[in-house]
Amino acid sequence: MTADIQPLLPSSETDALLRTIGNTPLIPLLRIGREFPGVRIFAKAEWFNPGGSVKDRAAYRMIRAAELSGQLTPGKTILDATSGNTGIAYAMIAARRGYRCKLLMPANASTERKKLLQAYGADLVLTDPSEGSDGAFFAAQRLYKEQPDLYVYPDQYGNPENPRAHYETTGPEIIDQTAGKITHFLAGLGTSGTLMGTGKRLREFNRDIKLVAVQPEGPFHGLEGLKHMETASHVPELYNAKVPDQTVYVSTEGAQQMAKRLTREEGLYVGVSAGAAICAALKIAATIQEGTLVAICPDAGNRYQSEKFWEAA
Ligand SMILES: Cc1ncc(COP(=O)(O)O)c(C=O)c1O
Repeated sequence: MTADIQPLLPSSETDALLRTIGNTPLIPLLRIGREFPGVRIFAKAEWFNPGGSVKDRAAYRMIRAAELSGQLTPGKTILDATSGNTGIAYAMIAARRGYRCKLLMPANASTERKKLLQAYGADLVLTDPSEGSDGAFFAAQRLYKEQPDLYVYPDQYGNPENPRAHYETTGPEIIDQTAGKITHFLAGLGTSGTLMGTGKRLREFNRDIKLVAVQPEGPFHGLEGLKHMETASHVPELYNAKVPDQTVYVSTEGAQQMAKRLTREEGLYVGVSAGAAICAALKIAATIQEGTLVAICPDAGNRYQSEKFWEAA
């Protein structure tokens, strides 16, 4: 590791709260997937991060890079478009460091997320729900262009510090936690930072490790945090369609049912994009004899508590 990137790692952070970002547990599934005896499925439990999601890693690194470059100084406002979790991570770090934070998100983001962002003191600007996360992205760009001096705009969709966070932390953690035995890595695509960054590190370690992208089946999916790349009006600059070995498409209902199963059968109270990743893991497991699968589980079920699907039997 070179000296100039070390200050960007949470492990070199002096603040006790932010130092807890990363090093999340890798939890084996005990029941789900039992029908595939040669395959082990692990959940990378990203809800253990202090802001409650995988996005703490990228948000921390993007903010840290802006601090170190002198761009982000007290009095400035962090501005970005977010489907929720990156915003929560920004808002937590901003509260800790004493910055202001303005976030653009689709109006139909879950009530839990909006309330949490308000609790952290973030300024929320809600965008047209029919335009999804793309609408929030374009609105953030407009605001920034109007008053660039007021804001620091990390742009999580195009900022290389986002995948770098995963290259430096998520990737090495998974290699260590599986003692190098991982055969398949699965991650849902939002900005694609998790898959691109972790994937790069895993491939450098072992070219045979398969990288599996998880996507919703269609454009109107309601799976917060995930993008359907083929129909997105804004495809993230970070996304390189040549990187995944395979893309697995998951239905909204399938992802929700799996989130419920993970909660009831495994004791893992996870969100819907985690459900999607484990659904995809089962689809892969059905096609192989042996393997060690690691699926990113981005956040916990409490971020989606008000959704009706939890209530149905
Ligand atoms: C719940 C959830 N799942 C998955 C993702 C996708 O992660 P990435 O942006 O690294 O592709 C996000 C991103 O915000 C998310 O909030």
